[in-house]
Amino acid sequence: MSQEYRTILLCVFTVFITSLVLGVEKSQPDEECADLNNTTWQEYRQGRDKLQVQYLLLTRRNLDCAEAFTQESLTSTQRTSYFNISRPTKVIIHGYRALGSKPSWVKELAWSLLRAQDVNVVVVDWVYGASFAYNLVVENYKEVAVQISVLINQMQKNGCKLETFHFIGVSLGAHVAGFVGTLFEGKIGRITGLDPAGPMFKGADTFDRLDSSDAQFVDAIHTDSDYFGISIPVGHVDFFLNGGQDQTGCSRSRFASILIYFPVYGYVICDHMRALHVYMSALNGSCPLIGIPCSSYEAFQKGNCVDCGVLNGSCPSIGLSENSGITISPLPIEQKVYLLTSSKSPFCAQHILLQLEVSQLDKSAEVEVTLRTESLKKEKRVTLKTDTTVFRTVLTHPLPLCEIRTIELKNTGARFYRQGDIHVKSVCVSEIPANRHDVPLCVNNFHIRRGASWSHDYVQVCDYS
Ligand SMILES: *[C@@H]1O[C@H](CO)[C@@H](O)[C@H](O)[C@H]1NC(C)=O
Ligand SMILES: *[C@@H]1O[C@H](CO)[C@@H](O)[C@H](O)[C@H]1NC(C)=O
Ligand SMILES: *[C@@H]1O[C@H](CO)[C@@H](O)[C@H](O)[C@H]1NC(C)=O
Ligand SMILES: *[C@@H]1O[C@H](CO)[C@@H](O)[C@H](O)[C@H]1NC(C)=O
Ligand SMILES: *[C@@H]1O[C@H](CO)[C@@H](O)[C@H](O)[C@H]1NC(C)=O
Repeated sequence: MSQEYRTILLCVFTVFITSLVLGVEKSQPDEECADLNNTTWQEYRQGRDKLQVQYLLLTRRNLDCAEAFTQESLTSTQRTSYFNISRPTKVIIHGYRALGSKPSWVKELAWSLLRAQDVNVVVVDWVYGASFAYNLVVENYKEVAVQISVLINQMQKNGCKLETFHFIGVSLGAHVAGFVGTLFEGKIGRITGLDPAGPMFKGADTFDRLDSSDAQFVDAIHTDSDYFGISIPVGHVDFFLNGGQDQTGCSRSRFASILIYFPVYGYVICDHMRALHVYMSALNGSCPLIGIPCSSYEAFQKGNCVDCGVLNGSCPSIGLSENSGITISPLPIEQKVYLLTSSKSPFCAQHILLQLEVSQLDKSAEVEVTLRTESLKKEKRVTLKTDTTVFRTVLTHPLPLCEIRTIELKNTGARFYRQGDIHVKSVCVSEIPANRHDVPLCVNNFHIRRGASWSHDYVQVCDYS
């Protein structure tokens, strides 16, 4: 197996040297800012012989002017490069580029990373190899990974440690990062997959896709697992946002999966790109994005998972904390964690567990629950069936539970086959993740008539100390 790697490495090393030689006459880093390259269909058809992978370097000292990063940046005697060997390195890898255009979000992601940490940010530009026919691009991704590994090898020789590398791969870029990780036998520090690509990868062997053996810690954010993203967990911890398929504020398109090979691609990737935007928002650190471990989204929505007990009490959060903030050892593998988000940056939402216990019903019923703060209200419809008397659901609120002033219940079943009066034994709201010290807010024993509404004011204060 390692013999096989070596052969691939050798072959592609030749390609890499060739592209280096061809790239040498490029502008000097300190004279002109480097940028990702774009490609056109014509250029693409003319020269399919090399992938034209290039690298850009951004640091806190050259935020506005990327440096073209090559092996010479490390070895040159003048040491003009902004690269600092003593600092950790973040490597950004973009994904499929349907139209050959360069990704527009690269600088924003780099800046978010640099705001959070003083690191080297290396951007892998493989737009040329990532453009046009998706199936051909999938053929290229491993070769790109091998080229990256040649550079990492060189960086290692110059004193960079593998465990200080953190790869951040978007979509197909996540699998590129995964294959780099495979080549280094899982010794890279961390890989973060932002909605790792699904088409042609879901059924793939772990060798061919991102998985938890690719780095010391692998985290992934899933936002479009029904179309462009992968539906299976691929890391130590996998965050499934709003179930991982459809995101709030993204309009649904039934045609998305059919249109993957067509230019319309650009318009239907809202769900897919949400992972990136949520990640950048988390890097900004304005509010915590915490996931709750659970076996499925359905179980999570039913309120079956309310704390991080299976992770020894530490809930994972999206962002740069070590191991996503998990302290359990050994690390979990393919731990699915769920969270609900709001539709706009910074995307955070408070998770509230609503539990309603009623006396046995003769007919099914529908109850609309409203939680009000001073200025906001949030509704949730709960369907009550006759086969059970305890109903649990998770809802989100922009403000924490302690800000909620009033709860309202309305028996909305106006039609004759619905339950008339509902006897509520208790209605309780509590925070998720559940805190050992918090007692749920409960109201016991009351009736709600059909069409009429019932409300209760809470007396509580927030302790933000
Ligand atoms: C961008 O790609 C074009 C066409 O392949 C090539 O001629 C040009 O040198 C590239 N520019 C950079 C900065 O790599
Ligand atoms: C491609 O890049 C060139 C120069 O960097 C720019 O002039 C051109 O507008 C770009 N084309 C596209 C489609 O982005
Ligand atoms: C490189 O990073 C180290 C550690 O953060 C720092 O002490 C040193 O001053 C940096 N070197 C340069 C040239 O910025
Ligand atoms: C992060 O914060 C900066 C500065 O406060 C802001 O300009 C940027 O839009 C924020 N980005 C996200 C994704 O929240
Ligand atoms: C769980 O947490 C406790 C206390 O923080 C710690 O002593 C213990 O080692 C942890 N268990 C595991 C399996 O990580």
